[in-house]
Amino acid sequence: MDVPLRVGNEGAGVVTAVGMDSDEDAWELLGKTVGILGGQMYTQYRVVPYKSALELLPDTSPAEGASAFVNPLTVLGMIETMRDEGHTAIVHTAAASQLGQMLVRACANEGIPLVNVVRRPEQVSLLSGLGAEHVVDSSSEEFMDDLVNAISATGATVGFDATGGGTLASQILTAMERSAVAAAGASQPGNRYGSDTFKQLYIYGGLDTTETRLNRSYGMRWGVGGWLLGPNFLERVGPERADAVRPPPPTPLFTATISSPPRAGGWRVQARKKVAEEIKTTLATSYSTEMSLREALSVDNLHEYGVMGAPTLMPSPALPPSVVRRAVPVGSAGPRRLLSIVGLRAPLLFVVLSCTRAWCLDE
Ligand SMILES: NC(=O)c1ccc[n+]([C@@H]2O[C@H](COP(=O)([O-])OP(=O)(O)OC[C@H]3O[C@@H](n4cnc5c(N)ncnc54)[C@H](OP(=O)(O)O)[C@@H]3O)[C@@H](O)[C@H]2O)c1
Repeated sequence: MDVPLRVGNEGAGVVTAVGMDSDEDAWELLGKTVGILGGQMYTQYRVVPYKSALELLPDTSPAEGASAFVNPLTVLGMIETMRDEGHTAIVHTAAASQLGQMLVRACANEGIPLVNVVRRPEQVSLLSGLGAEHVVDSSSEEFMDDLVNAISATGATVGFDATGGGTLASQILTAMERSAVAAAGASQPGNRYGSDTFKQLYIYGGLDTTETRLNRSYGMRWGVGGWLLGPNFLERVGPERADAVRPPPPTPLFTATISSPPRAGGWRVQARKKVAEEIKTTLATSYSTEMSLREALSVDNLHEYGVMGAPTLMPSPALPPSVVRRAVPVGSAGPRRLLSIVGLRAPLLFVVLSCTRAWCLDE
């Protein structure tokens, strides 16, 4: 704690100044509301390269645009990864998260079957209320059967797991294998190496910090890997794809192939455009509260942040009822823990509160 830490992953504000020698495109941003990413966003003014600023539509406020990068691009990146690798449906865990709710809406828009794994009955209701067709509750005794059925109904062969720890990743692969074996039925003779279906599970979060346990009861055609928006996905997309057509799938392992049509402008350009257009709908984030940095650092609120990682990050303290309260539902998004705001979301809100203006200078 003796090292200063500038906080805030991403934020939004109004461009108030542009470097004298900047391109014409930079001057175009003057007076406009933009989303920005790059850390150190808890500030009144921030200087960033203009190309990194995401121009928001005129009716978008800085608060609405404060989470324009990490979760929206992750959702779009997951869908792109699914297509790139030849899968046709997705399994997603911790699916009642803000990101999960975006994924429900984005997949519905694009007709992509999605299996949502949540851990509480209320979360089933929340996602069903958003129109999700397949929601399975890991706290239910029928969880594995429900998961196999949902995977069979959707044909999902790729999963994105935000929990990372415990057995959930393994259970998903097992369910995919059971579904594949059931689908093959008597037509496929028993094989000691499992089904012919390749199954991929990406761990993209660490909500459960216990060790990841894989029981390998799903044959030999499977993969488990990390997935991170920056290093794993955007770097793979690479600058060349900003203007390029979709490359062929990276490996020949997959049985299903999708030939997606080339898109003008490439993935990055298209994704940023989509975020700007859908930041208040498909890719919206709902906040249950806004607070200052000082408020976020209060002992009570730090306790709430600690609970977010419990029981593994810190011993669960005896919390007063007010600390574990549920936030009032915001819009159609449903209940969300206040502690999520205090924890993950706080830096984003800081920007909205304090950085209502951002400088965009050409570097
Ligand atoms: N890899 C990447 O590039 C990338 C990018 C963006 C986000 N992420 C990750 O995506 C996840 C979701 O982010 P968010 O901002 O949308 O989160 P959020 O809105 O704060 O929601 C977190 C959700 O996770 C659930 N959860 C917490 N601990 C859990 C556990 N041990 N097992 C099962 N569910 C658990 C919570 O359920 P309860 O209400 O029951 O606690 C809640 O529904 C985070 O893990 C984040 O780190 C990764």
